[in-house]
Amino acid sequence: MNVRAKVTGTGMDVPDRVVTNAELEKYMETSDEWIRQRSGIEERRWVTEEQGPADLAEAAARRALEAAGLEPGDLDCIVLGTLSPEADFPGTSFFLQDRLGLSETPCFDVRAQCSGFLYSLAIGDSFLRSGQYRRVLVVGCEVHSTGLDVSTRGRDVAVLFGDGAGAAVLEANDDPEDPSGVLSVRLHAQGKYARKLWLEAPGSALHPRFTQEMYDQGLHFPQMEGKFVFKHAVTRMPEVLLEALEAAGVKQDDVDLFLFHQANLRINEYVANSLEIPPEKLRNNIQRYGNCSAAAIPMLLAEAEAEGALRRGQLVSLTAFGSGFSWASAVLRW
Ligand code: UT7
Repeated sequence: MNVRAKVTGTGMDVPDRVVTNAELEKYMETSDEWIRQRSGIEERRWVTEEQGPADLAEAAARRALEAAGLEPGDLDCIVLGTLSPEADFPGTSFFLQDRLGLSETPCFDVRAQCSGFLYSLAIGDSFLRSGQYRRVLVVGCEVHSTGLDVSTRGRDVAVLFGDGAGAAVLEANDDPEDPSGVLSVRLHAQGKYARKLWLEAPGSALHPRFTQEMYDQGLHFPQMEGKFVFKHAVTRMPEVLLEALEAAGVKQDDVDLFLFHQANLRINEYVANSLEIPPEKLRNNIQRYGNCSAAAIPMLLAEAEAEGALRRGQLVSLTAFGSGFSWASAVLRW
């Protein structure tokens, strides 16, 4: 039997600080009603002064390792998806590696924004199937809150995003009796829309990378053409979901659980309706965490597993869309 990448442990972490829609009303002209109606978000978690991405990533990673019954030293590699790194370079994964007490385990960040976890999963899956590694930690981690314009100018974006991390341990499975593993991953991108959802400065294309003027213009805050992104998300997500199912050789009805990126509850309802996915096969947590970009899907996986909603032998379909544009879908036998 060919080697399959089996998820043997999941974990997540979010900051303790809960930021309600009512709290945001104090900082900008917005309302709980607008945020709930347009996005489904009720609250999100934001880090406190002393917390950063590596803190969240470490907690999520340790929980995933514990669930897998492994020690950090058992890992062969760490792949971490993020768009909000601890530092612009080297990213977050290197800080995580150090926190885990690892001295030379290879690690790197993947920059595929909201599809970052699925891109990272594809890389981990390839490492295992090629025989290069036996155990890979795949992480999604974001701290958005330190980079949001929490004034009326930035309200269209600021109310949507939250902080969090999720992690999954992938292990090589060559047991012919055990069907668990990644069955397919399909990745797509469309760079012509890179500026529809992006963070312009600091940027190495700028000379210099950052100026007071850029700061005054707020170019260091994310910019998004919301309706344009929405339209593409609801088209691309069903497309790639079906493509991944076909690649996995499974029927849509056989899937036990569908987990979508958590950018907007309306997007997910739209996608589910268009594919006639029954509500009991869907799980969302955007109501509690907002949009945690690359962390959204591994956080959903960890919650679903912890709550018994995702069990061994079940089929799970994962789908994401985000900045880049990037979009992706995977099918796993749990
Ligand atoms: O994770 C990466 C992928 N991201 C996404 O998929 C996000 C996709 N886009 C969306 O989810 C939606 O477009 C949003 C939730 C971002 C916005 O919803 P919308 O229904 O597209 O609203 P809109 O941007 O067209 O804004 C409608 C109105 C505007 O006012 P006017 O021009 O009609 O007077 C905005 O200025 O709502 C106003 N507005 C707000 N009002 C209260 C924008 N942000 C806010 C706010 N509170 N926070």
